[in-house]
Amino acid sequence: MSSRIAVNIREYDVKDFVVLCHLVADFFTFHRRLQGRGPLPPEEAATIIPRDMIRESSYLLVAEPQEGGDIIGFCRIEDHEGAFFLREIMVAENQRIRGVGTALLKAAEEHIKAKGRSNLYLSVVPYNIDAVRFFVRRGYNILNTIELRMEAPDEKIQRKPLHFLGLQFRY
Ligand SMILES: CC(C)(COP(=O)(O)OP(=O)(O)OC[C@H]1O[C@@H](n2cnc3c(N)ncnc32)[C@H](O)[C@@H]1OP(=O)(O)O)[C@@H](O)C(=O)NCCC(=O)NCCS
Repeated sequence: MSSRIAVNIREYDVKDFVVLCHLVADFFTFHRRLQGRGPLPPEEAATIIPRDMIRESSYLLVAEPQEGGDIIGFCRIEDHEGAFFLREIMVAENQRIRGVGTALLKAAEEHIKAKGRSNLYLSVVPYNIDAVRFFVRRGYNILNTIELRMEAPDEKIQRKPLHFLGLQFRY
């Protein structure tokens, strides 16, 4: 599927919960796989959403086709002491490259603008090259922080070396 789709971007409503569970499960499964880990089942997403995603500091947006039907994407912004972070952005796999991710990102930017802010921070796994390109093409080209971690014992992924700032990293 590749033609553009008209969507309304609106705030999450409880009626979206079941579909959101699937989108959230797909989001975390996708990222776990990039780290060589197993999937996140939708039942676990059902606990993550109320526990970690629907908070006073969060703003959860969903994309709904104008022609009707279930939501096909979501994003969540978090206000952390006045700085806004894009924590997740996800479009259903069979609805990608139709402009939905751009519409969600624009709505997130408009939300923070309405709060008097212009800077939205986001992090993306370097292996997720489609998403890295997506953000850089939309102006997110300042490498702002470097997030580092140690290798987890259950990771089974072959990493590439990266020389940067005179140091050797793996990604
Ligand atoms: C990143 C993501 C939200 C983009 O959503 P989308 O609805 O496909 O975005 P759009 O249709 O608005 O734009 C996609 C752009 O990527 C390009 N593209 C080309 N091939 C692509 C591919 N295989 N996959 C994704 N994008 C591709 C499109 O042509 C378009 O290019 P443009 O930048 O010149 O406009 C979506 O790919 C996604 O949900 N990915 C999985 C979750 C994720 O990685 N989230 C980001 C990390 S938090």
